[in-house]
Amino acid sequence: MKKLGVAIIGCGEVAKVHALAVSNNKNVELKVLCDIKKQKAKHMQKQFGGKIYRNYKKILRENDIDIIHICTPHYLHAQMAMDSLQAEKHVIVEKPVSLSMQDAVKILDLSKKVRKFAIPILQHRYDENLNFVLSNLNKLGKINTIKVDLLCNRNKIYYSGWRGKKIQAGGGVLINQGIHYIDLLLLIGGKIENFSSKIENYQKISEVDDTVNISIRFKKKILGSFNATSNSIHNFDHHFEIHGSNGSCYFNDKTAEIEFKEKNKLRKIEFKEPTKKNKSEKDYYGTGHENQINDVINSIIKDTKPKITIEDALPSLSFILDCYKKNENTK
Ligand SMILES: NC(=O)c1ccc[n+]([C@@H]2O[C@H](COP(=O)([O-])OP(=O)(O)OC[C@H]3O[C@@H](n4cnc5c(N)ncnc54)[C@H](O)[C@@H]3O)[C@@H](O)[C@H]2O)c1
Repeated sequence: MKKLGVAIIGCGEVAKVHALAVSNNKNVELKVLCDIKKQKAKHMQKQFGGKIYRNYKKILRENDIDIIHICTPHYLHAQMAMDSLQAEKHVIVEKPVSLSMQDAVKILDLSKKVRKFAIPILQHRYDENLNFVLSNLNKLGKINTIKVDLLCNRNKIYYSGWRGKKIQAGGGVLINQGIHYIDLLLLIGGKIENFSSKIENYQKISEVDDTVNISIRFKKKILGSFNATSNSIHNFDHHFEIHGSNGSCYFNDKTAEIEFKEKNKLRKIEFKEPTKKNKSEKDYYGTGHENQINDVINSIIKDTKPKITIEDALPSLSFILDCYKKNENTK
């Protein structure tokens, strides 16, 4: 079988994780690395090979490129995704898909029209401990509360470029790091009845939020809370608690435990992530990128649907944008 051709736009931090996943998959070949800063692409080329382009529009004219990975700053995602789809390429786009719901829906509609995938990276959906939790949720009885804590450390250097600019990043800890866990919170909690949110920029080392506190009442009569900060002393694992009428569940990046009543006795089941060979170079990225990218490649080859499609990215994006809007309106 002829290998599918891959191009990566944006050769910064996360692109290496994409390139590694691509180079580990025997059905694809990394053909182009694109970055406006040639040095960045050159640095990656040493490890992964491929041609170097500075202007992504050049990729769109190449017949041997089937999949384009978009690993650029947030404000560039929507246009790059739409241009790639127009050129009839499959798209794998880093989170967030776009900075507006209008653009996200345009990408969705275009992907249907040209019959190409537009896949948002939500790698934590592929975490094995999440599968363990989801397949055992019924043991908790009626879920009453879900609590999420995300404590991470991002310094002045991290926020010095596009990540610290509201117009380019769309926000801070909520849309950048929080989006993964808001996605999981909504996956478990379901549709939202109402919410309140408090969004702060305490450190003032950038234009964007560094601390967020959100309370949600879900339609299923579940209370949810989400606390995130990028001012923590170091990066802690994210922490989820789910409490129900028959038990409780705790999970983080790698482990999960569920305690529940069974025949009047307390039982505990646990999950521990085995040591992985495809571990990301940054621990907090988790190990899901490679699993998600493999799933997309498989789906293209077999003409099936991957586990996560762009529809899955819409609830978390829409909710986060609503939180920011509410915050602006209350200032
Ligand atoms: N899923 C995850 O866990 C995860 C982790 C980190 C980053 N990300 C996401 O990945 C994306 C990139 O983040 P990063 O940390 O790698 O950023 P980065 O700044 O390290 O890399 C972005 C790269 O894009 C390049 N670029 C900018 N404009 C360009 C253009 N017009 N054409 C080509 N290249 C251009 C920059 O020169 C830079 O090298 C963001 O959406 C971010 O949220 C996701």
